[in-house]
Amino acid sequence: MKILAIETSCDETSVAIIEGSTNSLNSGVRVLSNVIFSQIPYHRLYGGVVPEVASRNHLLKINSVLKEAILKTGFNNQNIKDFLNSIDAIAVTVGPGLVGSLLVGVGFAKALAYASGKPLIPVNHIEGHIYANFISEFEDKKFKIPSFPFLGLIISGGHTILILVEDHFRYQILGQTLDDAVGEAFDKVGKMLGLSYPAGPEIEKLAFEGNPAAFAFPRPLIKENNFNFSFSGLKTAVLYTLKNQKLDLEKRQVICDLAASFQQAVIDVLVSKTQKAAQKYKIFNIVVSGGVAANKTLRKAFVSAFSKQKAELFFPENILCTDNAAMIGAAAFYSHFLREKKIPFSEIEASPNLYLK
Ligand code: KG4
Ligand code: ZN
Repeated sequence: MKILAIETSCDETSVAIIEGSTNSLNSGVRVLSNVIFSQIPYHRLYGGVVPEVASRNHLLKINSVLKEAILKTGFNNQNIKDFLNSIDAIAVTVGPGLVGSLLVGVGFAKALAYASGKPLIPVNHIEGHIYANFISEFEDKKFKIPSFPFLGLIISGGHTILILVEDHFRYQILGQTLDDAVGEAFDKVGKMLGLSYPAGPEIEKLAFEGNPAAFAFPRPLIKENNFNFSFSGLKTAVLYTLKNQKLDLEKRQVICDLAASFQQAVIDVLVSKTQKAAQKYKIFNIVVSGGVAANKTLRKAFVSAFSKQKAELFFPENILCTDNAAMIGAAAFYSHFLREKKIPFSEIEASPNLYLK
């Protein structure tokens, strides 16, 4: 089954073509092309995503991103119609996300599905992040896909959720953030340190040169007997440290130490909560995804924390951690086969507040 997938929920305009075998759902999906147009340079000017700028740029870019994704699979400008005949379905992110951004992708996908007569599969963006781990072949590299049950930790710019996944699309939410998402905390702390948006990758780089024990930042909710998270207090702790200690941000070592200490606090909380859940539910298949999952220090901390248990850890390729359409195609592939309830075309719409259910 070949699926054309579209993702426009935030500030990445992305179109992918993925393929999966209907005879062997356990083999995962293969990515034929995954084109991502990142709008980061436009939003960087404002220090964060500006919704109006995001939707305008999706509108400007979506046609050329679609064309590039098709051309990469070997079709040319003359036989784009043949390409549309060759696919089995069209998938699109319907939420959660920015309404104006979602509307561009959903409207575009609906038009394509209507014109081509192919079924349209609506995809929840958070499920997309989980299914980034069900991509078994990407740019000629092969990966193993997770087996059920597993614990899923979704850590992105908009979400921080720990779930117990019993089977495809059957999950229990164990905990989530009560305020800021992890990626959001990275971005906000980065802003305080004078870094540009998105600050996650930059904080990671600076942290390599810093001392993670230089500042004793709090580990919010780490001792609480639940799986919820909170990062706004940690962000405030960084702010007060900057103010009260009158730190000189002109000194590179100070910034590196702040970055390393903040990052370590975040990692400690994420690892500790996931470990507690693993022990409580006796599940040692751990699937981490979302933009923050690209962080190498975090990956290492998970590997080391779970090294004593016979755990299997799964992280997507870096480019599949941040927003992309390939993960939306992967979720759509499984959803199409395994979800009994199909949503009629007329009911598919942008749902900015869509949640996991
Ligand atoms: O998954 P994503 O592209 O968007 C959402 O669905 O929200 O995640 C983007 C977030 C940003 O907050 C960014 O700073 C963070 O992921 N991020 C990182 C790293 N790479 C991206 N955070 C920490 N370390 C990284 N290497
Ligand atoms: Zn995302």
